[in-house]
Amino acid sequence: MEQRDQWATKIGLILAMAGNAIGLGNFWRFPYQLASNGGGAFMIPYFIALVFLGIPVMWIEWTTGRYGGKYGHGTIGPMFYLMARESLKPRTAMIFGIIGGMLAFSVASLLSSYYYQVIGWSAAYTYYSLTGAYFGKDTVQFFLDYVANTKAVIFFWGLTMLFLGIAVGQGVSKGIERWVKVMMPLLYVFAVLLVLRALTLGSPVKPEWSAIKGLEYIWKPDFQTLSQNFFRISLAAAGQIFFTLSLGMGIIHNYASYLGPEDDVALSGLATVSLNEFAEVILGGSLAIPIAFAYLGPEQAVKGGVGLAYMALPNVFANMPAGQIFGAMWFLLLWFAGFTSAIATYNYLVAMLEEDIHIERKVGTWLVFIFLFLLGLPVALDSTLAYLSELDMWVGSYFLVLLGLFDIIVAVWLFKPDNFWEELHKGAYIKVPEWYRPIMTIIAPLFMLFLLGGNTLDYIKKGAFSVSEAYVTQVLGYDYTPEIISLIIRARIVIIIILVIGAIEAY
Ligand code: PHE
Ligand code: NA
Repeated sequence: MEQRDQWATKIGLILAMAGNAIGLGNFWRFPYQLASNGGGAFMIPYFIALVFLGIPVMWIEWTTGRYGGKYGHGTIGPMFYLMARESLKPRTAMIFGIIGGMLAFSVASLLSSYYYQVIGWSAAYTYYSLTGAYFGKDTVQFFLDYVANTKAVIFFWGLTMLFLGIAVGQGVSKGIERWVKVMMPLLYVFAVLLVLRALTLGSPVKPEWSAIKGLEYIWKPDFQTLSQNFFRISLAAAGQIFFTLSLGMGIIHNYASYLGPEDDVALSGLATVSLNEFAEVILGGSLAIPIAFAYLGPEQAVKGGVGLAYMALPNVFANMPAGQIFGAMWFLLLWFAGFTSAIATYNYLVAMLEEDIHIERKVGTWLVFIFLFLLGLPVALDSTLAYLSELDMWVGSYFLVLLGLFDIIVAVWLFKPDNFWEELHKGAYIKVPEWYRPIMTIIAPLFMLFLLGGNTLDYIKKGAFSVSEAYVTQVLGYDYTPEIISLIIRARIVIIIILVIGAIEAY
């Protein structure tokens, strides 16, 4: 067998994993989740989910990935099959392989179909900041006009995909690793510069508004709001932990499969979590919300929602000294963050073609390009963004948790807890304390059942399974019109088709 590509350097591996995890989730999703879930109330379940869910699942995925890589596999289907065989007959083990493979393929392709769009918006906004295009305009209208401008949307998204194709086509050590070695340090530099700028912002509008007030909103524990909305806030916080750490997507497994069989996973997994959390709560937390607090005031800042990064902040840059530069820096930061995550889902799909059907990487890269382009086109053409929201509802918060639950069932339970513990510590630089064992075997899966059950109940209650008015207005935030309904139905048909293709492929 041909030698499998491996990470060339330790620092390259760590930066690639950090790049994988640190994404739009940190700088765009985290602030608006915080804002719509009570700031200091959100942080409490967030840290609980980090310790009891995030860290254990991260270790599980690193361990599973390295195990698969040993057998020449970088995708979930074969990994789950190989591990489940420890306690099941090959035929039964195969069922787990198919379910896991199907979910991971669907997450990687559907997530990419809309996430790459948002990265494209960042490219456009970097350009518009430099040229000052939105300065002095109504920034909400500017955004709506932009997403309705199909040509511009497709151009910036296509450009982003082209760069992604080039990076992935060059392979793991010669492509991905080199790109992240440039982009990740730049990302940190930009983020630190922006944070310094943000925290020294007084308010030009009202003296009592300031960035520091924004930090207070985030960091002052608010038990009262939490207890009044306990389930909603806890579910949102745990969901954010999953999304931001790239868990339940197959892409941590995939990157870990390019390790040597004796390379450390325990400390490296923890390093990935730490780098991501630093970028999220320290850097991400000190940007969008504090900036919005200073310039838009607490009320507007908290109401910003999904549009905070693209609709509210441009308003700020337009009124800030050197706003063109800081605006461009912010959107370029978003672009780097998104790009280094997108490389991972792209590579997952290429690895699938490479390993399962033996298509050469160079060819596979451009086949995936065409596939993702076709899959993303309906997203690009829908200026209401309802199609995007529907995909995000199911893929971005539901499928992840489902796949994460299978992670534990397969890698811990079917592979057997003792084997798992031994595998986790093979070549490890640290010893995971014994008291973490029950967290990984029992508490984390229960936590995930709670999350999955809670989300399912919530979806049923709001009528997600039949597309009720409550679902469309409360969950997705749209007016219930025939046009929106048909977009939602279309998104669902695509989800089902992709699931079926995924099942066939895994089989
Ligand atoms: N962890 C990523 C983030 O925070 C999630 C992601 C990874 C999304 C890869 C898409 C592709 O943004
Ligand atoms: Na992240």
